[in-house]
Amino acid sequence: MADNKNNPGQVEDTGHEWDGIRELNNPCPRWWLNSLYLSGLLVIVYFVLYPSLPLVNESTKGLLGWTMINEYKEDLAKVEAKRAPFEDKLASMTVEQILADQEMLNYAIGSSKVLYGDNCAACHGTGGAPAAGAGYPNLTDDDWLFGGKPQEIMVSIAAGRQGMMTAHKDILKPEEVDQLVQFVVDSSNGVATEAGKALYMAKGCFACHGADAKGVKAMGSANLTDKIWRFSGEPEQIRHTILHGVNHVSDPLTRVAVMPAWNEKLAIMLEARANAIADGEDPNEIDWDDELDGTESERLTETEIKKLTVYVHQFGGGQ
Ligand code: HEC
Ligand code: HEC
Repeated sequence: MADNKNNPGQVEDTGHEWDGIRELNNPCPRWWLNSLYLSGLLVIVYFVLYPSLPLVNESTKGLLGWTMINEYKEDLAKVEAKRAPFEDKLASMTVEQILADQEMLNYAIGSSKVLYGDNCAACHGTGGAPAAGAGYPNLTDDDWLFGGKPQEIMVSIAAGRQGMMTAHKDILKPEEVDQLVQFVVDSSNGVATEAGKALYMAKGCFACHGADAKGVKAMGSANLTDKIWRFSGEPEQIRHTILHGVNHVSDPLTRVAVMPAWNEKLAIMLEARANAIADGEDPNEIDWDDELDGTESERLTETEIKKLTVYVHQFGGGQ
């Protein structure tokens, strides 16, 4: 390093010079040096307080004992504490009460999104509208196979659903199948003929779809007089349904329509309560030991099913 004695009062010179440009040796600014020392200090403080040095199986723990998982657990506990009063209240409310209480309704809907996404969206689509042709019912329309009242939706979710239509390939003549396909197409357009209707009655379709062909909720039989199709309105697809039925086990070409059960225990309890009320008995008197044997599945809790009932109900098609 060259001396700068020759130029006192001037900045020190490193002695390097390129094409007449001299490299000076200015001291670093004070503020810059201070921040450097400060950050060095912070490193030491951090090093002492927090986990820092990786060892064989874990790292040094630090004086504060902080860990990311603990922080996560604390955050979670805070969220749970906020939710607890709502969850407790929900547990004691009926679906109808939840629907009538704006605050609880908002909470139920908000906390159902993940529940629905995890358990239902794979079949019914994110917003309740499945991909066309996927073979799952749309939950956002006004057309319910098994009913859109809160209690009916709740039973659908708790018990699962499996509509059953017999295959007709062995009992109908080809021309009868043609005529019935035409009847279904005509019905959906509101122009069914007397002859078509007569065949529909004679072949026993009415036993499940009703004399008016509008479907029977207790059986989940589709309404044949509207333009909303459970499967498809294409004549070839209608023919397929008539020939092979739905969930007709012995026909390998049958349509498969299975809604899994999410809480068999709750399903049995709902049914027993409904029966007791229908028979004029007190549902609180039911002896559950007689009804339940302890092997019933509970994939979702009763509260979760209430939330989902509310969620599905507000998709727009609720009744
Ligand atoms: C044992 C009861 C039963 C009988 C008998 C029956 N169906 Fe069905 N049918 C159903 C059920 C239940 C569904 C809906 C299945 C589902 O979604 O799970 C259905 C669905 C259909 C569909 C599909 C509608 C759509 O929206 O895609 C057509 C078409 C149909 N039935 C026509 C007929 C005709 C025609 C007859 C008479 C030959 C008949 N069904 C007899 C129970 C029956
Ligand atoms: C494996 C696919 C599948 C999953 C998962 C599923 N569903 Fe379904 N769901 C169905 C099928 C198929 C039907 C129609 C059954 C039939 O046609 O007989 C149905 C019917 C329903 C119905 C009755 C619709 C009506 O028109 O009456 C409701 C309500 C319903 N599902 C809600 C749910 C909810 C809520 C979840 C999540 C907890 C869920 N489903 C998960 C396949 C599924």
